[in-house]
Amino acid sequence: MIRFALIGAGVLAVTAVVTNAQAPTKTTYDKVYSAAQAERGKKTFGEKCSGCHEPSRFSGDTFHEAWDDKALKEIWDIASGTMPEDNPGSLKQQEYADIIAYFLSLNDYPAGDAELQPGAAPMAAIKVAKKQ
Ligand code: HEC
Repeated sequence: MIRFALIGAGVLAVTAVVTNAQAPTKTTYDKVYSAAQAERGKKTFGEKCSGCHEPSRFSGDTFHEAWDDKALKEIWDIASGTMPEDNPGSLKQQEYADIIAYFLSLNDYPAGDAELQPGAAPMAAIKVAKKQ
């Protein structure tokens, strides 16, 4: 009886994981950030990130090799959760989103009217597309 209950709990846990996993519904070609936002992100990157990172790390082949086919959430989690390395999480959520918008602009993804929204859920909805 106890064993049966444990198996039942296991099935429930697996179901919960599957339900929570959000498949991306958009890609980085779908105008997911605005040009003004990328400009803000460029400025913030210059102030808070460029002491340790060159922009080239987040553009071109380096960017694509690291992030193609992954959700923006993977960049978001590292950036907002662990960066800047000497003061993790010290920026506003909006500033992290702006920096990711800047990375998208570095990679020539098209800008649109809407801004890239901060947060795990919106970032999970967007997949990094291969260079076309
Ligand atoms: C004090 C130094 C330092 C600062 C400032 C810093 N980082 Fe980092 N960052 C690192 C180190 C160290 C790593 C992991 C080791 C590595 O791969 O270089 C890293 C890795 C990353 C990664 C993963 C890169 C990859 O290709 O896997 C991202 C994304 C990132 N940083 C974003 C940022 C952002 C955004 C900022 C500014 C808000 C920032 N970092 C500021 C030191 C720093």
